Amino acid sequence: MKGVILAGGNATRLRPLTWVTNKHLLPIYNKPMIFYPLEAMSRAGISDVLVITGPNHSGSFINLLRSGKDFGLRLSYEIQEEAGGIAQAIGLAGEFADNEKILVILGDNIFNQSLKRDVEEFEKKEKGAVVYGKRMATKSKQYGVIEVKNSKVISIEEKPEKPKSDIGQTGIYMYDHRVFNLIRKLKPSTRGELEVTDLNNFYVKEGTMICKILTSWWVDAGTSFDELLRANVLVAKEISKEK
Ligand code: DAU
Repeated sequence: MKGVILAGGNATRLRPLTWVTNKHLLPIYNKPMIFYPLEAMSRAGISDVLVITGPNHSGSFINLLRSGKDFGLRLSYEIQEEAGGIAQAIGLAGEFADNEKILVILGDNIFNQSLKRDVEEFEKKEKGAVVYGKRMATKSKQYGVIEVKNSKVISIEEKPEKPKSDIGQTGIYMYDHRVFNLIRKLKPSTRGELEVTDLNNFYVKEGTMICKILTSWWVDAGTSFDELLRANVLVAKEISKEK
């Protein structure tokens, strides 16, 4: 299986921090944000990883991450010309994936759970996809919301007004090799993007989308200044536990 990390987008919710830099280069305690998904790939046992960024700061990613040797990874880079949505960005990984399955992590998702076992299990599967969910204290309107029955996904709705469950869609997904054909069939949403939720719903309709619940802490550090701060605090606490 190969790894794909998305680090594009305009990060409008974190302006002015993101006027002159890319969100994924911002610090989370003692490391740039992008280090965390890269370390998650490495923990998952994946060694070939594609980093997808926008055109403006792509050079900074190469300067920072170089070959990926320091993470025990082999890195490739791809440019998403415009922020046309998460599914559009994933679509750029077709050649890189070369018919293998992929693990996708959104570059602003910070968590400390190992995905290794799930990756090994998914490798053995003939077809399908996995989405990681996180149980929220209150039903959330700021994430995709997943309805699940016996681990199988019944529906996913993008930032719904009336959430049907307390399971938020994280930015961690596994797809079989068919994902790139499915992305070609997607139509832009009302906000003009190819949505990951629409992509995931192809698998939901087929009955092959499994939801795994993250039991570790998880933060989408790109949602707000408060979530960015929370990610910093959680990582700092983790490090102080290790001392
Ligand atoms: O993090 C979980 C959430 O991620 C899910 O609950 C939502 O269902 C999903 O749509 C997504 O929502 P966000 O509003 O957080 O997506 P955002 O636009 O912030 O983009 C998430 C990541 O993907 C971020 O690291 C930037 C990257 N990205 C985004 C877009 C739109 C790209 O690389 N290219 C893009 O075109």
